[in-house]
Amino acid sequence: MSPGPASFCGADQILLPPRDGLPFLCGADLAAQTLEPGGLMVRDGTIAAVVEDAGAELVIDARGCALVPGFVDCHTHLPFAGWRAGEYAQKLSGVPYEQIAGGGGGIAASARALHESSDAAVLGQAAGLAAEMLASGTTTFECKSGYGLSRAGELRALELARELGGRVAQATTSTALLAHAVPAGYSADQWMDEVAAMLAEVVALGSVSALDIFVESIAFSNSHLERMGELAADHGLALRAHVEQFASHGSVPVALAAGARSVDHLSMLGADDLGPLAQADCAAVLLPAAEFLGGEHRAPGRELLDAGALVALATDANPGTAPVVSMPLVIGLGARLYGISAREGLAAATLNAAWTLGLHESRGSIEVGKRADLLLLDGPVEQVAYRLGRNPVAIAMVAGEPVYVRDSQAAERMTRR
Ligand code: NIG
Ligand code: FE
Repeated sequence: MSPGPASFCGADQILLPPRDGLPFLCGADLAAQTLEPGGLMVRDGTIAAVVEDAGAELVIDARGCALVPGFVDCHTHLPFAGWRAGEYAQKLSGVPYEQIAGGGGGIAASARALHESSDAAVLGQAAGLAAEMLASGTTTFECKSGYGLSRAGELRALELARELGGRVAQATTSTALLAHAVPAGYSADQWMDEVAAMLAEVVALGSVSALDIFVESIAFSNSHLERMGELAADHGLALRAHVEQFASHGSVPVALAAGARSVDHLSMLGADDLGPLAQADCAAVLLPAAEFLGGEHRAPGRELLDAGALVALATDANPGTAPVVSMPLVIGLGARLYGISAREGLAAATLNAAWTLGLHESRGSIEVGKRADLLLLDGPVEQVAYRLGRNPVAIAMVAGEPVYVRDSQAAERMTRR
C-alpha cells in the first residue's frame, strides 16, 4: 500500500534541475540548477507537483530547510564481513596498499572474513550500515560482490546483496565485481576464463545489472578489462571499472572503447584522458574518501567538470580503502579536494549517480513523476559541504514514506491529519 498524500511546505530552497527529462547534469546544465523557495506534493510514492498543499494528509514544515533528492551511492562494496582497522594503522605508518595486499591483507583478508562468516552475520552488518546510510540521506545504493574470490563465493555474495536489498528501506542494485583480486591457484587469464564460465549463472540470479573489474598491477590488466567489456556486452550488462587508482595504466581509453558506463577512482587520471572522457556517455565516478584516507593522489575533479564530463560522487564503502558510508561527508571532501561547489556535488551525488546505475528515469532529481526519494536538510545546501562531518539530514523519505526522522525536533515538523 502506498503512503497517503504528503506535502513539504515553506522550504527555503528546493534543488531543481534546469528542465525535466535530463538524464544527467554536466556543463551548462550543471550550472543551471536552481534553488528556489517553495513546496512539494507527494502522492502514491511519487512527486506529484512542485507546489505545496497545506491540506495534505501529512504536512512537513520545511521552513528554514532545503529539499534535495535522496542521495544515490553508486559505488559501494556492501555487503562485506568485518573491518580491517589494523591495515589502516599500517597505512598511517606509511605502508602502501600494494604491500599490505602482498602480505595477505587487503581484498584477500576480507575474502577470508566473508568465507568464515555466516549469512546472518554478513547481512546483519550490512543492514546496520544501510541504516547509517539512510540516516545520512542515502536512499538508493549499489552493492558489489568481489570478496567471494571463488565461483561459489561470488554467487553467494551476489545472493547476499539481493537479500540485503529485500530487507533495507533503500532500493539497491547489484554489480558483479568478478575480477577484484586474482584468486589463489589461478593466473589472471585463468580466472577470467572462470568468470566467463560463471556468467550464465550470475545473469540467472536476475538481480545483477553490471560487471566490474579492478585494473591495477596487483589485480587485472587492460586486456582483462577489454574481455570484461565483451562479456558485459554479450550478457546485456553494464560495464563498470576501477581504474587509475594507485598508478596510471592508460585504462580509460580501453574502458571507453569497451563501452563502459563508468570509470571509477581516476586518482591518477592523465590530462590526455579528460577530453575523450568528457565526450563519452561514461560517468567519472570520484571517490574522495578513498583518496583522503588512503593518502592517494587527487583525481582531477574540477578539470573533469570544466571539460564537461559527467561526474558522480560515491563513498566506495568498503573495509579497506574507504570505511565511510556518509554521502554528505563525501560531498564535503569532494568540495575541498576538487574545488567543486555544493550544488555540483549534490548533482554528482544524485542524478549523475542515478544515471551511473541506470536509474535516472525514476530518481535522482526533483521532477514530477519521479519516485519521492527526498531529503529535508536542516539548513541551506551550502552547509552540506561546509560543515564537514556533520549530518544535515533531518528527514529522509523513500517512495513517499518518511523512513528516517532524526529526532524529536524533526518529528515536530510533521503533522498528520
Ligand atoms: O574500490 N580498488 C579496489 N577495490 C576497493 C578496495 C577493496 C578493499 O581494499 O577491500 C576500492 O578501493
Ligand atoms: Fe571500489
